[in-house]
Amino acid sequence: MTAAATSTETPPVLLQLNDVSKQFAARVGLRKAAVSAVDGVSLTLRRGDTLGVVGESGCGKSTLARLVVGLVQCDSGDVVFDGRTYRAGRRRTRRDLRDMQMVFQDPHSALNPRATIGEAIAFPLRTQGVSRAETEARVDEVLARVGLHGNYRSHYPHQLSGGQRQRVNIARALALKPKLVVLDESVSALDKSVQAQILDLLLELQVEYGLSYLFISHDLNVVEYMSDRVAVMYLGHVVEECSAEELYRAPLHPYSQVLLESIPKLDPRERGGPSALTDGEMPSPLDPPSGCRFRTRCPFAMDVCATTRPPLVETRPGHLVACHLHPVPESATAGDPIPGEQ
Ligand SMILES: Nc1ncnc2c1ncn2[C@@H]1O[C@H](COP(=O)(O)OP(=O)(O)O)[C@@H](O)[C@H]1O
Ligand SMILES: [Mg+2]
Repeated sequence: MTAAATSTETPPVLLQLNDVSKQFAARVGLRKAAVSAVDGVSLTLRRGDTLGVVGESGCGKSTLARLVVGLVQCDSGDVVFDGRTYRAGRRRTRRDLRDMQMVFQDPHSALNPRATIGEAIAFPLRTQGVSRAETEARVDEVLARVGLHGNYRSHYPHQLSGGQRQRVNIARALALKPKLVVLDESVSALDKSVQAQILDLLLELQVEYGLSYLFISHDLNVVEYMSDRVAVMYLGHVVEECSAEELYRAPLHPYSQVLLESIPKLDPRERGGPSALTDGEMPSPLDPPSGCRFRTRCPFAMDVCATTRPPLVETRPGHLVACHLHPVPESATAGDPIPGEQ
């Protein structure tokens, strides 16, 4: 493929995070402390693409999702969405947030038990000022589109299965015709067979509505299935970001490597030995290790890892990694630095 062909095929950027950080206040005994949930994260999502985010529980995935959709405010850094820059501390209006929707993990608690399915989907449309007639039409359209034909409009959440309820949540997100949908563990609470149906539905809807997804899950198999690119998070840092194909074939960061080794294999003969991750506890986000946060569990840790945070740099075209084992290639040092390093 020629360079010209490649550049015309690259879709424009929809969402960009520039060096975004978030700390939460906490208490350790009587002492005030801070949890560093997201620290200096920079990511890019292109229009029509899916950016997967993986990492163990507590690494900051949900906080990242909430920062993107404005449920949590950044302490520093900025969120650029659809050409508009939102700096830390600037609250976004309802209008600013209209083009982004979020689908949460628990399909039941996201729905008001006293509202019918039709009311649940109509409510955000009405608060955004969509006319009554248009709301009615959109509720019917999205319910049919997620496979809930018939009289589901008048049903209450308790009358539906978990999979049906998550279809309702997806329908509600789509009804506002968003550009971005943030899916935070959206299929994690569902049975495997239902999960597969919802994932395929999401893929169909993505093409049909031209959606971009930020797809967050601790389940590496699901992320591989859904994503164009994947960011691997560890204790609030992005340690690697590249195409899904390349990450699963040839991960560069030692953390990505152990994480991928720990994926349960269907064939028992392919199963690896005990993962290196079982050797060490995840350090506390109240007191994360200096330098590279993974160094306390890394089999390759060097002195420099304790003193200097490795920047997230492009070590190969399109493949970013934050690790002192993978220094910036000579040819790349002349280019713009990639934000993310303090
Ligand atoms: N509202 C909050 N107040 C205090 N600490 C929080 C809050 N939300 C998240 N955290 C902490 O931030 C870290 C990242 O959490 P989270 O973003 O939920 O991770 P994940 O979704 O990857 O499991 C955790 O240590 C968590 O305890
Ligand atoms: Mg989470």
